[in-house]
Amino acid sequence: MKAIVIRKHGGPEVLSYEEISDPVPIKGHALIRVDYCAVNHLDIWVRNGLAGKHVPFPHVLGCDISGTLVKGFGKFKSGEKVVVYPAIQSGIPRVSFSIIGGFGKYHGGYAEMVQVPQNNIIKKPRWFSDAEACALNVSYLTAWNMLQRSGCKKGDTILIWGANSGVGSAAILLARAMGLRIITVVSNENGATIARKLGAHLVIDRTKSDVTVETLNYTSQEGVAAVIDHVGAKTWPISIEVLRTGGKMVACGTTTGGEATVNIRAFYSKEATIIGAYLGTKAQLLSLHKFMKTKKIKPIIDSVFDLKDAQLAHQKMENSSQFGKIILKVSK
Ligand SMILES: NC(=O)c1ccc[n+]([C@@H]2O[C@H](COP(=O)([O-])OP(=O)(O)OC[C@H]3O[C@@H](n4cnc5c(N)ncnc54)[C@H](OP(=O)(O)O)[C@@H]3O)[C@@H](O)[C@H]2O)c1
Repeated sequence: MKAIVIRKHGGPEVLSYEEISDPVPIKGHALIRVDYCAVNHLDIWVRNGLAGKHVPFPHVLGCDISGTLVKGFGKFKSGEKVVVYPAIQSGIPRVSFSIIGGFGKYHGGYAEMVQVPQNNIIKKPRWFSDAEACALNVSYLTAWNMLQRSGCKKGDTILIWGANSGVGSAAILLARAMGLRIITVVSNENGATIARKLGAHLVIDRTKSDVTVETLNYTSQEGVAAVIDHVGAKTWPISIEVLRTGGKMVACGTTTGGEATVNIRAFYSKEATIIGAYLGTKAQLLSLHKFMKTKKIKPIIDSVFDLKDAQLAHQKMENSSQFGKIILKVSK
């Protein structure tokens, strides 16, 4: 089969388009012909390498998969369209799971075939196209988990960082459908225009305005009910600063670094809460599918690249020149 293989850590140039052997069937696993695989920031972490995280080489990236089942099992039929819930129970102390195509032994969806535990297979909802369905298993699921855990109710104001990112764009779309008032952050005019079209109530260009000042002005100095923070070190201090009394900061990422200096006094004097979010459960993925159907919303897809052009897809994400999900077309 054709696959993008990495044999060492490094830049996009380590993504090598090659012919490799098909996966050898393992008991309790399902073989899928991959139709589409979305690109996530996790793919860049794994490609670059992270201190203390081991990747067995050669490795195939890709955690956001939609495809066609090669052989049926249980209630699933051969040829059925499916998506893959990406978390696998790892049994490693302090880490509840590993992610398919991530830092772990399971190869991912940057390949024509992938083998995953049968338990991770979910029927593809018929109201999404194959490309749309692959976009939901990671950023959308995480955004959904973060919004649910934020405890926000209709009418609450939320700050969502990085409108153009996978997680940020998903959070805007879902938060809008939940009836929240949305403040979001961009770094260029194009991003601002799209964020407004998606329904953000206030769009702050962080290259021109101070996010803290704008957010506090918009909320009459009260602050927001919650912040969706996937950016990490650079944004944590601001995220805490702009919370209202009793507000919640929900964090899932460290794009700008994993160690932040924050105003602890501001944090405790507001009786604020910091919540960590790691993906979401399989049940949440199913509830996300239903929510998006009920609210008639589709994921925001920035661009679709052929599998062989995975290097270009990674460069686009690293340049932050996307708005929404970047997707690889694999076996179509
Ligand atoms: N915990 C989990 O389960 C989970 C799940 C999914 C993702 N994540 C993590 O969440 C993060 C986002 O993932 P993604 O796939 O959505 O990434 P992505 O599409 O590559 O987006 C990165 C975002 O970071 C923003 N950003 C970068 N530097 C910034 C700064 N100094 N200030 C404000 N914003 C800044 C970018 O905004 P500009 O374009 O304006 O620079 C962009 O919106 C990653 O760290 C990823 O690993 C975690």
